[in-house]
Amino acid sequence: MGLCDFHCHILPQIDDGYVSVESFSRMLSLYKESGISSIAFTPHIYNPYVKANVGSLRETFKWASEMASDMGMMTYLGSELFVGDQPELKCIPIADTYCLVEFGLALPPANLIPRLEKLHDEGLTIILAHVERYRWLSPTSSMLERLRSLGALVQVNVEAVEDGSALPYLESGLVDLVATDNHGDETLPSRMLAVLNEWPKVYEKMEGMIL
Ligand SMILES: [Fe+2]
Repeated sequence: MGLCDFHCHILPQIDDGYVSVESFSRMLSLYKESGISSIAFTPHIYNPYVKANVGSLRETFKWASEMASDMGMMTYLGSELFVGDQPELKCIPIADTYCLVEFGLALPPANLIPRLEKLHDEGLTIILAHVERYRWLSPTSSMLERLRSLGALVQVNVEAVEDGSALPYLESGLVDLVATDNHGDETLPSRMLAVLNEWPKVYEKMEGMIL
């Protein structure tokens, strides 16, 4: 398969993304022009700081995926699951396979490993969203090692590759995917391609991901 953006918030009127209904098709064509032929929409869920319009999600996804398919693009509905203190972790898995998760920045959630283990036991592959942000995680931390032993994949944001904050992970060979985390910035699709061209090993890994 070609390249996929596994993390973005570009479905109109769903969460804190700011792509309008009118500009959505332009955003899709910018992805296509950049050689990114698949997009996973990952609206925030269970995030205490972002309200998501979950009731409209399926209908909006249907509208978006039909438009994308007319343009020869593949789309997937997923979610960005905030792991807080909720009793049970539920996500919308991308292609029934990948569960994108995010955390608070200062401290890891309680009982993180056993809780994620449950998702892993359900057959899901965990993707750790924008790892460069978490102050409690580093390329050498035992927590990262434990997460990776659950098969968790490491995602960094395009912006973090550009500003260097993702470099410790990239230079350690720990990054499995770069994604835009796009909330409406039309320059991000071409920037995603540009940073992947600088990190061909990550590019290769992403092309090998099964969807
Ligand atoms: Fe995000």
